[in-house]
Amino acid sequence: MNEIEAVKQRHSVRNYKPDRIPEDKVKMIREKVDELNKEGNLKLQFIEDAGKTFNKLMNRAMGLASAPSVIACVGPDGADLDERVGYYGEKLVLFLQSIGLNTCWAGTFNRKNIQAEVGEGERLVISIATGFGADQGKPRRSKDISEVTEVNGKHPEWFDRGAELALLAPTAINQQKFLIKLNDDESVSFIDKGGVLSKVDLGIVKCHFEIGAKRG
Ligand SMILES: Cc1cc2nc3c(=O)[nH]c(=O)nc-3n(C[C@H](O)[C@H](O)[C@H](O)COP(=O)(O)O)c2cc1C
Repeated sequence: MNEIEAVKQRHSVRNYKPDRIPEDKVKMIREKVDELNKEGNLKLQFIEDAGKTFNKLMNRAMGLASAPSVIACVGPDGADLDERVGYYGEKLVLFLQSIGLNTCWAGTFNRKNIQAEVGEGERLVISIATGFGADQGKPRRSKDISEVTEVNGKHPEWFDRGAELALLAPTAINQQKFLIKLNDDESVSFIDKGGVLSKVDLGIVKCHFEIGAKRG
């Protein structure tokens, strides 16, 4: 499965089978996490046993408490940490999708219970629940491309392909509060319009846009 297919098949999944992730997949996940941590200067951590990470009432009500495993998104604190977590975390989400697992980004989780290592000067931004879904999730409402883009004149084809995949990006409470602007020199700006965890959202959106806009 390529990245475009993974983007199209991914939906947030909140109900999981009790099965643990098998050893060969755990190894692949750990290798991918190492690669992304190097690339993004992050300390993403795959925690095989989510334990009581999702024991909050809200998580139990939504079903997330059934997720067997979790990724703790940690990194050196700084102004761009949230966005990097979004960008590289989503690369991991798409990788997990491509090896048959499901995911749900989760801003709501029990910070005391997650077994993450958070060193001095580091911050735990968010978590990602993972495991084998009891279902594959489902498509949801989305804004229209005209509501999230700003272009002077004609839309280049590559730009629309990027924006279409950006609309499939997970965002906190499906807020989709971002704007993708095509500048006169054909560079692209990503604008955060605020909201809960919107910088994480913006990193996720960039990741999807790049996949869609790639040429060749
Ligand atoms: C930054 C972020 C935080 C999120 N936090 C939660 C959460 O705490 N609980 C939850 O059930 N879903 C959470 N989600 C999942 C969103 O609700 C979901 O991505 C959105 O409704 C769009 O649906 P989709 O992912 O199926 O496309 C979060 C998503 C993102 C990107």
